[in-house]
Amino acid sequence: MKDVTIDNITDAVLRSLDGTADPRLKEVLGVMVRKLHEAAVEVSLSHAEWEELVGFLYRTGAASNEQRNEFILMSDLLGLSTLVDMIASANAPDASERSVLGPFYIPNAPMLPVGGDLILDNEGDRVVALGRVTSTAGEPIAGALLEFWQNAANGQYSNVDPEQDDNNLRCRMLSDADGCYSLSTIRPIAYEVPDDATGGEFIRATGRHCWRPAHLHVRVHAEGYEDLVTEVFNTLDQYIEEDATFGVRSSLAIPFNRTPTDAERSQFAHVAEPFHMVDFDYVLQPLNAGD
Ligand code: BEZ
Ligand code: FE
Repeated sequence: MKDVTIDNITDAVLRSLDGTADPRLKEVLGVMVRKLHEAAVEVSLSHAEWEELVGFLYRTGAASNEQRNEFILMSDLLGLSTLVDMIASANAPDASERSVLGPFYIPNAPMLPVGGDLILDNEGDRVVALGRVTSTAGEPIAGALLEFWQNAANGQYSNVDPEQDDNNLRCRMLSDADGCYSLSTIRPIAYEVPDDATGGEFIRATGRHCWRPAHLHVRVHAEGYEDLVTEVFNTLDQYIEEDATFGVRSSLAIPFNRTPTDAERSQFAHVAEPFHMVDFDYVLQPLNAGD
C-alpha cells in the first residue's frame, strides 16, 4: 500500500498479516501491532527515541548468550514474566501459584533421597524444607520429580560463581509413597539481579533497586499433571514487599523460622542444631483440567 497516513497505517499493516497461516500467530501479531502503533502515537515517539529503543534492544541481544538471556531479565523486570505466570495460574485456581523461573535453573541436578542433605560445607543458617506434593483433589502424588535450586551464603548461584561446585545447593528428588519430600539446606538470602547490562540500565534509569527477597526455587513434574515452576519466599526478608521481579504471592510466602518439634529433631538428627523448618506443600493441577 502506498501513501499511508497516520490514520490508516495500522489497518494497512494489519491487512498485511492476513496471509498468516497460523490463526493464533495472526491474533497475537495483530494485537501487538495495534498496541505498538497506539503507544507510538500516544507518546508522539521521536526519531531519537526510536533509535534509543532500537539500540536498547540491540544491546539486550548482544548481552545474551547460552548462559544468560537478558531479554528474560527485562521481561522479569517489566512484570511480563509474572503476568504470564498469573494468566496460567488463573486457569488452575486450586493449584500452587507459579512464580518466575529466573536465569539460574540448570536441568539434571544430582538426585537426592528424601531427607537428604544439601548443606555440605555451605555457610549459613540451617533449615529443613519439607512438605507434600498433592493433586488439587488433595491426593498425595508419589514419585513426583521436585527440582530445588537456591543461592549460597554469598548471595550467588552456583552457575555464576566460580567459587562454588557446579551443583552446589541444587538437587532433584522423588516424592515418597505419601507424596512427601524433605531436605536440609541453608536459608537462602536476598539477592540482587544482574545489573551489568540493559537490565541495569533500566533499573538505574527508573530509580528502582535490583533486590529480590530470599527464596527457594522449585520445579515439580509429575505424570498426568501440569508442570509447576514456582518459588517459596521468606516473609522475614526485608525485601518481601518489593521484589524487583514482582514474583512474590502471599500463597508462596512463609516465615522460614518454624521451631522443629522433638520428633523432627530426632528425624533430622544428622542436621546440626540449631535449625528451623520451612513447610511447603506443592499442589498440582491434573493435565487438561483447566481447559
Ligand atoms: C532469581 O530468582 O534469582 C532471578 C529471577 C529473575 C531475574 C533474575 C534473578
Ligand atoms: Fe532466584
